[in-house]
Amino acid sequence: MTAPEHPTSPDSAGTGGGISRKHLLRAAMASVPAAALLGAAGQSPALAREQAAADRPLTPTPYCDDGDDPTPPQMEGPYFKPNSPPRTSLLEPGDGPLLTVTGHVFGVDCAPLPGVLLDFWQADVNGGYDLAGYRYRGHQFTDAAGTFTLATVLPGLYPGRTRHLHVKAQAPGQPILTTQLYFPGEPRNATDALFDPALLMTVRQAGTTREASFDFVLDTPGGGPGPGPGPDDTWRVGVSYRVGDPARYGGLDYRCRVAHQAGVGWEPPRTPALWQRV
Ligand SMILES: [Fe+2]
Repeated sequence: MTAPEHPTSPDSAGTGGGISRKHLLRAAMASVPAAALLGAAGQSPALAREQAAADRPLTPTPYCDDGDDPTPPQMEGPYFKPNSPPRTSLLEPGDGPLLTVTGHVFGVDCAPLPGVLLDFWQADVNGGYDLAGYRYRGHQFTDAAGTFTLATVLPGLYPGRTRHLHVKAQAPGQPILTTQLYFPGEPRNATDALFDPALLMTVRQAGTTREASFDFVLDTPGGGPGPGPGPDDTWRVGVSYRVGDPARYGGLDYRCRVAHQAGVGWEPPRTPALWQRV
């Protein structure tokens, strides 16, 4: 059985806090006319390499800093169901149009957070929610580098709402963040009272798939120095690594990008500028 969702009130949780660089950036993106915002692929700002090829100035990549506001909460809506199955793909045979969502989960100190529970649920392509089963519902955990990947279909529209995904995010032992993610260039973004530009994903069209990305910032202190390397890991504090040196941390393999001496707080999952996953 499926049912549409009709929100009865705007999100009362609000966004809280002041205006941050990220809010300004996303608000600016939301206010730019769609024709100016959409890249050649039709859904998102052009990739840097495409801008460079077109001889246009490059836009600095947004980055996480200690002043970034945590991802704002939004209402759960009436169609959350607990006990969703563990899976990173919600796809069923013949599904389309396809959507992928990838990104990081950070703490407020910008440290990537591993082991964060992400529980996604959404409408099907026709705008209905599965209330009898678990179609288009699933949970997963971020990996050692704090990243996640979801494969699904583009959620459909239904009366009163713009296009969106629902998600709950919870770092181990921390409160649950319940929120929603939005798509740029959607006409209904301008009329949906729940829409928040701070929750816009970056979306590009790749063939028949929309590739979305979003980085969550959870209001937690982050991972801290972590538990340190495990018995099977090779990364060690005090070792001088050279470019190209391998190291294993948290059961994952990395390759050194920049020569440095390893220190506490510079573990490979926390320092993507120093270590590349291989
Ligand atoms: Fe919904």
